[in-house]
Amino acid sequence: MKRLIPVLKEDGVANDLIMVIRTILAASKELAFRIHQGELSGVLGSTLDENIQGETQKKLDIIANQLFKELLLEEADVKTIASEEEDDVVAGNENGKYIVAFDPLDGSSNIDINGQIGTIFTIFAAKDDLSAGDWRQFEQKGEDQVAAGYVLYGPSTMLVLNTGKATRCYTLDSTHGGYLLTQPALSIAEQTAEFAINMANQNDWLPATKQYITQLLAGEKGERGKRYNMRWNAAMVGDMHRILTRGGVFLYPEDTRESYKSGKLRLLYEAFPMCLLIDRAGGSSSTGKENILSLTLDTLHQRVPVISGAKEEVSHYCSLMNS
Ligand code: F6P
Repeated sequence: MKRLIPVLKEDGVANDLIMVIRTILAASKELAFRIHQGELSGVLGSTLDENIQGETQKKLDIIANQLFKELLLEEADVKTIASEEEDDVVAGNENGKYIVAFDPLDGSSNIDINGQIGTIFTIFAAKDDLSAGDWRQFEQKGEDQVAAGYVLYGPSTMLVLNTGKATRCYTLDSTHGGYLLTQPALSIAEQTAEFAINMANQNDWLPATKQYITQLLAGEKGERGKRYNMRWNAAMVGDMHRILTRGGVFLYPEDTRESYKSGKLRLLYEAFPMCLLIDRAGGSSSTGKENILSLTLDTLHQRVPVISGAKEEVSHYCSLMNS
């Protein structure tokens, strides 16, 4: 099985970008070790703090953020970082060529139940005309990402990465501490009979979302003519990994509640990277009205509705939203 770095070199990834990716993965390996030690490493449970999103921070959120932050700020090629757990961007090296945004630990509510959690990251080219501490470094389009990926800390630790070619999947070989290529090109079928949505929000959904899910639940006798299955991980990283592995569609739509008017997920370090991975594996991603990768970030912690996965489902949902 091929190791990660030779694959990146074969893909023509620049050496300085490889260094940034290596740094992210060094942090991921340390985090994977602590997560797999679970209760024994004393990292489970909550702190008394809230993050910028008003969510209670888990100890592991803080530890993960610290790990990625410290290692990335030591990396000469990193100009600016942004994290779900930081209110503002953090300046790195003024001469760095890249900027990195990350959700250090996605799916925090799964931490204490030994469920799937992960790190999501995205890398863009830095802007020469803006200083390292300027958040507008990230005022870029989803399609401008030079690399995006996630590390899933499940029964095995897996890395899914895109650097411009196929969306590739690697598995961490803990015997030697390296990521090995296990699926060279993930591919999402255009059609599916599996969806992921938090059904508990249905009273607040927009009419188009209600109509879409009603059609799916109608099964063989309904207008979609087949029986659909539902899965919900409560960690985007777990749901997207399932979709990249065996297909499906994921929805975190906007709804009528004030704080969900733009959905729940964050554009920069959740939607952008995940949608790049999905789209380059043959799927597609939309807010219901616009292609997610064509959006430009307006504010650092901006939220966005996410409909992503099998092309046929995304386009059907969009046709209901726009009719
Ligand atoms: O970012 C937050 C997140 O945990 C995602 O990973 C996940 O898809 C979603 O929230 C779960 O939301 P809910 O609490 O509605 O199940």
